[in-house]
Amino acid sequence: MKTAARTLLVLLVSLTSPLPAAEPAKPATADNPNPFNRLFVPPAQRSSALQDDGIHDPQTPGLDLLQQPAQAFTPLDRSSAGNYVNWVSSLQHGKFKPRYSQADPKQEAMPMDLSIVMEVKGSMPNVAFPHKAHTEVLECTNCHDAIFTPKKGANRMSMAQIMLGQKCGVCHGSVAFPVTECRRCHSEAKKTAAARK
Ligand code: HEC
Ligand code: HEC
Ligand code: HEC
Repeated sequence: MKTAARTLLVLLVSLTSPLPAAEPAKPATADNPNPFNRLFVPPAQRSSALQDDGIHDPQTPGLDLLQQPAQAFTPLDRSSAGNYVNWVSSLQHGKFKPRYSQADPKQEAMPMDLSIVMEVKGSMPNVAFPHKAHTEVLECTNCHDAIFTPKKGANRMSMAQIMLGQKCGVCHGSVAFPVTECRRCHSEAKKTAAARK
């Protein structure tokens, strides 16, 4: 009974207190069109020190235990965008070994080699989505079914959604290479009438 009364009180208080004003959206500037997109920032702000990255609490004493990104990334294969690491080739060359499961350090990835070509209207090459590169570092449940229905052609998506952090953009631009790397996704030449002959 007591709990019910307290719940009701909390409910009443929350109903009577005014709603917090919506936070004004950060204005986009020309050099940083997507402020939420960590890898889509001006070069000087990439791989910033942990205390400045906006993710870690700069006050926490544990921060000293962590290796700084710039130092950790030095031995890895370089790319020209994002945090300047080519994670796919670094993994191929054995330059880092991802821990696949938080609970079980011995659990190994079970990569699935299935590429799905997505036809793109217009002049851009088609998109080849490689399950292999993804399942070497991610479990199926990272994408299925919350982000993508596992059925070829079942997911409608556009570049605009990706730029806004949806679909592929849930990861690309925040933890995986950013959308400025057009050709890494748009990698499959279109079959022209001449090539089909
Ligand atoms: C990074 C995201 C991601 C991960 C991780 C992922 N998938 Fe997918 N999967 C996709 C996308 C994108 C498609 C294509 C959907 C489309 O064409 O609309 C797809 C399609 C599929 C399909 C449909 C194939 C077809 O021909 O219709 C199956 C089956 C599938 N995935 C199984 C899996 C399994 C099993 C795993 C784990 C081993 C996995 N996926 C991991 C993103 C992912
Ligand atoms: C992370 C992967 C990825 C990157 C990087 C990427 N694209 Fe896309 N793009 C896609 C996907 C997926 C689609 C939708 C394909 C479909 O229709 O199923 C798409 C669609 C498109 C389309 C078709 C029309 C539209 O707006 O949806 C154009 C044009 C396009 N991309 C241009 C670009 C350009 C230019 C860049 C670089 C600035 C780029 N893309 C980078 C994945 C990517
Ligand atoms: C759940 C997170 C996630 C989603 C969603 C996701 N990716 Fe990725 N993707 C990654 C990660 C992580 C890598 C490997 C790290 C990197 O390359 O930055 C990767 C790598 C890739 C590569 C490999 C490039 C190479 O060099 O071999 C391609 C191509 C790619 N993604 C395209 C896509 C497309 C297209 C979509 C949407 C249909 C998509 N990804 C959705 C996380 C994701």
